[in-house]
Amino acid sequence: MAVLDLVTFPNAILRERARRVRNIDKSILRLAHDMVDTMHHYSGVGLAANQVGVLKRVIVVQMPDDEEPRIYINPEIVHREGERMVEEGCLSVPGYLGTIPRSVWIKFRALDSTSKLVRLKADDLLAQALEHEVDHLNGILYLDHLQEHEELRPVETASGNEEAQSESEEATAEVHVG
Ligand code: NI
Repeated sequence: MAVLDLVTFPNAILRERARRVRNIDKSILRLAHDMVDTMHHYSGVGLAANQVGVLKRVIVVQMPDDEEPRIYINPEIVHREGERMVEEGCLSVPGYLGTIPRSVWIKFRALDSTSKLVRLKADDLLAQALEHEVDHLNGILYLDHLQEHEELRPVETASGNEEAQSESEEATAEVHVG
């Protein structure tokens, strides 16, 4: 298990489409577990393989209430419903947050690490994270969903006051999707 290097904007691999996984073999499982370690290390709620420089359709997600990380292979959003504005960040675009439209709820399917088909309906942060990570596999960044330039802003870092700084880090972690 290992924390992998993160690819950051504007690296071209973030703009490429990842390829379907044909065989969930040891190398894919190792990649997924290293991605989980990397997601934990950077305090994200999700991570896509493009972000560690690998063009394979693998994502990992862990909601604050999840006891175990979720590993999804060849994930697909099969239905989207509604629109809501959300605050979003990306580990590959450090230092910024934006307000973008995401679906109210989605239907999602993928294979898990045992090659079993998983189907689920998701709303709230899980829907947001799944849309964000599947976007990554298609070469799309949350920046592409910004409707106006003003909706992208630098993360404010408090200076001098330690308490304010830790509060601001917590607030940032909540919206840094991955
Ligand atoms: Ni991201």
